[in-house]
Amino acid sequence: MNRQNDKTLQDMEAVSIQWFPGHMTRTKRQIEKSIRLVDAVAEIVDARVPISSRNPVLHQLIQGKPRVILLNKSDMADPAETKKWLQRYRAQGTPAVAVDCRSGKGLNGFIPLVREVLRDKIAVWEEKGMVGRTIRVMVVGIPNVGKSSLINKLCRGGKAAVADRPGVTRENRWFTIGKGFELLDTPGVLWPKFEDKTVGEHLAFTGAVKDEVIDTERLAGRLLETLVVSYPQALCERYRLDDGFLPGKRGDEILEEIGRKRGMLMSGGVINTERAAAAVLDEFRSARLGHITLEKAEDNQ
Ligand code: G4P
Repeated sequence: MNRQNDKTLQDMEAVSIQWFPGHMTRTKRQIEKSIRLVDAVAEIVDARVPISSRNPVLHQLIQGKPRVILLNKSDMADPAETKKWLQRYRAQGTPAVAVDCRSGKGLNGFIPLVREVLRDKIAVWEEKGMVGRTIRVMVVGIPNVGKSSLINKLCRGGKAAVADRPGVTRENRWFTIGKGFELLDTPGVLWPKFEDKTVGEHLAFTGAVKDEVIDTERLAGRLLETLVVSYPQALCERYRLDDGFLPGKRGDEILEEIGRKRGMLMSGGVINTERAAAAVLDEFRSARLGHITLEKAEDNQ
């Protein structure tokens, strides 16, 4: 194993925790201040890790506002699992839609979903003669989950900031996405639940946490150990592993085998596990390893 970048996941968690307290307090204040400016909240989560990519205290911050969930990056997730997540959210009373904010797939379901959660409110507005009143929605999500991609796609590439009015500040960026519909970008940085080791790990697998702070071989090894449990077939197919190789193997052993199969050798015939690790992470993050969901709807939350 290359120990040049000998930072462990624990180091990463420590780094993250040091980063976030300042942001947390500021963001909490900003969201609490801005929440009264919107009618609903659109929470974006990563469809591959819907538990880890949620903010742990969002429900407190949004103070009972109607909410919809966007299961983003669904192009890279396991469609069967995405379906179960959609059912679970709906059963919990928070309607959700699967989207791909890079291509725009699924986004035509977004506005109807917001209208659905605001149905009663809209009926009251209409009774009061406020037909066609502008609907304002705050977009929230942890870094890298796809907030900018969503806004860009819905604004059709343009960054149409709404003209001056109360609540429009440098911190509060508004976007018009159609007649009578406005989005407010998350004010501040919404942190994930980093104190949980699995959360840190899963976010690192997806690339939401930058690799510079992590030992990539260890990370790839952990990813392989996770995939052996729920997607062994994908590993065998992608890396042409022999039948019966995987059971009982540790992550570092699988990584070595992948390096061997790919011919990633250094002088003296030593396997370049650093290259193998980079390949595994890259292929997982680009879904070349398959459509994979690491956190299942039936898992405990
Ligand atoms: P953020 O504002 O919440 O921080 O996230 P942002 O939209 O910047 O998205 C983070 C990365 O995730 C970007 O990739 C973006 O293209 C990608 N992404 C967002 N939504 C989706 C999706 O539904 N599917 C896929 N496959 N990718 C998505 P990047 O590599 O950082 O940037 P770029 O190379 O795309 O410019």
